[in-house]
Amino acid sequence: MMSNVKQDEKTIWAPILLKWYDAHRRDLPWRDKFPRDAYKVWVSEIMLQQTKVEAVKPYYDSWMTKFPTMQSLAAASQDDVLRQWQGLGYYSRARNLHEAVQEVVASYGGKVPDTKKEILSLKGIGEYTAGAILSMAYGEPEVAVDGNVLRIFARLYNISGNILSMPVKRQITALAQSQIPAAQAGPFNEALMDFGAMVCIPKSPRCNDCPLIAYCCAKKAGIEKELPLRITKKHIPTEQIAVCVLSHQGCWLVHRRPAKGLLASMWEFPNVIGSGAEGRNALQQLVASVGLQVAIDSASIGTLKHVFSHKIWKMTMYEGRLTDGILQTKEDWQWLPKQAYTSVPWAGPHGKITAMVE
Ligand code: ADE
Repeated sequence: MMSNVKQDEKTIWAPILLKWYDAHRRDLPWRDKFPRDAYKVWVSEIMLQQTKVEAVKPYYDSWMTKFPTMQSLAAASQDDVLRQWQGLGYYSRARNLHEAVQEVVASYGGKVPDTKKEILSLKGIGEYTAGAILSMAYGEPEVAVDGNVLRIFARLYNISGNILSMPVKRQITALAQSQIPAAQAGPFNEALMDFGAMVCIPKSPRCNDCPLIAYCCAKKAGIEKELPLRITKKHIPTEQIAVCVLSHQGCWLVHRRPAKGLLASMWEFPNVIGSGAEGRNALQQLVASVGLQVAIDSASIGTLKHVFSHKIWKMTMYEGRLTDGILQTKEDWQWLPKQAYTSVPWAGPHGKITAMVE
């Protein structure tokens, strides 16, 4: 498998896509003229966010009959707006659109703003919708990167990283930006949408009908069906951790973590996986294993949450008092003078515990 086939990022193929779009573009109700009316782009893009084109068509037509202008929408009651949206689902889209249109009427003289900063400040508008409005209605050289665009670029450039990760999204956004033909950002974005819906479709792309096949590195590598890679955030398990803060003669009892693994060789307060009375018992046993008898308060002195990429620690800190014994093993355990607490590398969140106690 030639999975390392890469495309020269300077190669421009956008004119070929635009030519394909001229011949194959879908006839859709919101594609009435060019440049488009910003309100119409806005409504259609919000409707299309979680809904398929065929399902949106009748809603879009009926919406434009009922609310042909932003003024008419702004003046409508929320009940009327939601009734009009009924059946499309994700009703916050309708509430946000209504509120944002009211803001445009009240604060922007009824004209959808044409700067990215202002558009992004409107409720319910993110990078994608901002890019769609700016390019299609105002001819601004902005991209509108959605799942279609991520899939198309992952294949064309043989990008094997997770398309849901920020670095890959950024990489693809930059590549798409570099393709925008002069004064044709709107058609380019819509061409990508149609190309993604008709040719470079998920699972089994229609490579035989593809005008860009000569540029497709995934096809060259024979992995066009394997891309894009979509890894959704998996459930991240949470560990309850009980921590003992044992203070004695101006020192804290601390432990160095094993040389391998998470936060390797860094220092921490004695801790166990567990919570409540069970956690405190396990803490007592842990500390007893190095020769120290402790009484541990049942009331905690605080909690900390620490998020790793693969797990979450929910830490509960308890103060302990030394009742007997001496520290038997020096290896990886020590009484750390409090005033020297910055002298050891703390294991992530453990450094914050020093601020919870004096
Ligand atoms: N999907 C999202 N926006 C679209 C548009 N403007 N045309 C076709 N499909 C789309």
